[in-house]
Amino acid sequence: MSSTKGNSKSKVYIKTFGCQMNKADSSRLEGLLASKGYSPVDKAESADVIIYNTCSVREHAEQKAMSHVGRLKFLKIKRPEIKICVVGCMAQRKKKEIISSLPHVDLVIGPSTMFRLHRLIENGNKGVFLDTEETVREFPSHVTDTSKNYNEFVPVMKGCNNFCSYCIVPYVRGREQYRLKEEIIAECNKLADRGVIEIILLGQTVNSHPDFIDILKSVSEIKGIKRVRFITSYPGKVNNELIDLVAGNPVLCNYFHIPLQSGSDRILEKMNRNYTVSKYMKIAEYIRKKIPQASVSSDFIVGFPGESEEDFQKTLNVIQKVQFDQSFTFKYSPRPLTMASKWKDDVPIEIKKERLSRLNELCAKISLERNKKLEGEILEVISEGNNKGRSEHYKIVFFKGKPANPPEIVKVKITRGLPHSLKGERI
Ligand code: 5AD
Ligand code: SF4
Repeated sequence: MSSTKGNSKSKVYIKTFGCQMNKADSSRLEGLLASKGYSPVDKAESADVIIYNTCSVREHAEQKAMSHVGRLKFLKIKRPEIKICVVGCMAQRKKKEIISSLPHVDLVIGPSTMFRLHRLIENGNKGVFLDTEETVREFPSHVTDTSKNYNEFVPVMKGCNNFCSYCIVPYVRGREQYRLKEEIIAECNKLADRGVIEIILLGQTVNSHPDFIDILKSVSEIKGIKRVRFITSYPGKVNNELIDLVAGNPVLCNYFHIPLQSGSDRILEKMNRNYTVSKYMKIAEYIRKKIPQASVSSDFIVGFPGESEEDFQKTLNVIQKVQFDQSFTFKYSPRPLTMASKWKDDVPIEIKKERLSRLNELCAKISLERNKKLEGEILEVISEGNNKGRSEHYKIVFFKGKPANPPEIVKVKITRGLPHSLKGERI
């Protein structure tokens, strides 16, 4: 019988759903468990501890996670000694429901307390473990010494204070908590020593950290760090100082993810986004003026309660004006606890689908145009092997010529812009 104590025999499998924050949490959890003697495996079937790190942001994400966890029942019947843990946002939100409808689950742990998982396993705990979000200030540092990535996520803050009316994040991840600047820098130094050359500073509203500008400057000065990017920016807190800093600092990637969500002021107001389209346009215009090549990307929601065809048209118009490099598009899905869930979800599903497909069509056309604009340019590409790599805009670049060993930085002359990638020749 295999043991679930943290000895070298315990194998852990982690499956991640959802956003970058979850991916970062999973990678940290894996590092933490590795330091406690667990060894990561890439199949649930061969693990002693199975962890599903879940997402709640849309209903679809929850359904997917629930059905995946449901299927683990058969493994538990075969090997009752394994520990099945559901962690993350859905764990926080569905707590009791998970335990009662999926009795093969051993532990349910919210996003702020998941880094205590090994203690709960070792103490033989079983059942729901609720979060005490306000008191938990842990930001476990990155201990995945085994990772061979050239880039790593570094959380800067967690939670959110904005309470956009559609969004469940503030309810499952709690209020904003900022990581100490010194701690962030120390971790980035450690990563650089290990050979990491790209840092992705992470937060739901990463630029709301009170020391964000300082953090960006300091991280970009770390020896060995070639690129720094940051996601996600909250539009209300993007200012010229930030854009000027990025424009003037070659280590800071010309890459901005600033979700606009809708191009209609009426809808933005109902979304409680706290900015207007014209305020957003000023930010976008300033970025385009200072850094014409910068990649600007956004998230959009279609079919928000009360969204008319006219409102939707306004979204399309703004997209035409800003020319986003990349857009992540979603159909509105009412989330429990949120303000908007109390309003009638009155845009019929057919209309939501139709708007989403028109939106996607426009966004794809614009992404292609943006990529075509790069034809003839010479870009620095961090090789990921197989004559493939990424530009500072996080665009995938396929290049001809001498292959490069990751994470070698090569110069590539772009010969063709495609909808989702670039082609070029190494020079
Ligand atoms: N319905 C649809 N999309 C949503 N998002 C957040 N909440 C919802 C919801 N209830 C989208 C937003 C956000 C992205 C991460 O997910 O566009 O920026
Ligand atoms: Fe959700 Fe709005 Fe906070 Fe983003 S800023 S996490 S959309 S509440």
